[in-house]
Amino acid sequence: MAVTTKRKAGAAKTVPGLRPGEFIRVLISSARIKTRLQQLARDIRRDFPTEPLHLIGVLKGSVFFLTDLARELGGEVSFDFLSVSSYGHGIDSTGEVKLIKDLDVSIEGKTVVVVEDILDTGLTLKYLLRFFEEKKPKHLRVVVLLDKVERRIADVRAQYTGFVIPNEFVVGYGLDFDERYRNLPDVCMLQFASRGKAKSD
Ligand code: PRP
Repeated sequence: MAVTTKRKAGAAKTVPGLRPGEFIRVLISSARIKTRLQQLARDIRRDFPTEPLHLIGVLKGSVFFLTDLARELGGEVSFDFLSVSSYGHGIDSTGEVKLIKDLDVSIEGKTVVVVEDILDTGLTLKYLLRFFEEKKPKHLRVVVLLDKVERRIADVRAQYTGFVIPNEFVVGYGLDFDERYRNLPDVCMLQFASRGKAKSD
């Protein structure tokens, strides 16, 4: 598993859409993401060499990760999306998660790989795993691009992890701040002039 530390982050850079007082530093470059996705795809295919894989993306942050990973996976691949909203990620939150958009097709009997951009407290994934398990897939696995291990509250884990990252506010490659920055090609740290840095996603 790749571990990314703050020391590897680059200097502040200017990107289109940057607002006054906001600073962006690359944490994981698009080149590193591409290489890691190839390894993740190999790991998944090693476990399921011939099985059709049904990818489930959790909107919206996982969109680029899912589409890039799907193209690295050989063999038969299908995908679906669902959307949930969570009410706060803080330690005092109830962890309540609400389904906003359900799956389009049944997952019964399928080899399902849940695709998440980031695993933080784990409360969303805990809800999703219970939700999916009730639908009786043949296999249920999780792949996450980023894992903020130190933020975990729920006892959940992904079978496949791209990068373990520090507790920094990250944007890009699907991740947002107020819906902005999702289209950055790299995973970046977003910092603020007045506040130093944001507390969490
Ligand atoms: C992010 C991410 C996970 C969740 C993880 O979604 O995609 O679904 O947070 O957090 P947790 O482990 O603390 O539950 P977000 O709510 O930011 O929505 P988005 O994907 O639409 O940006």
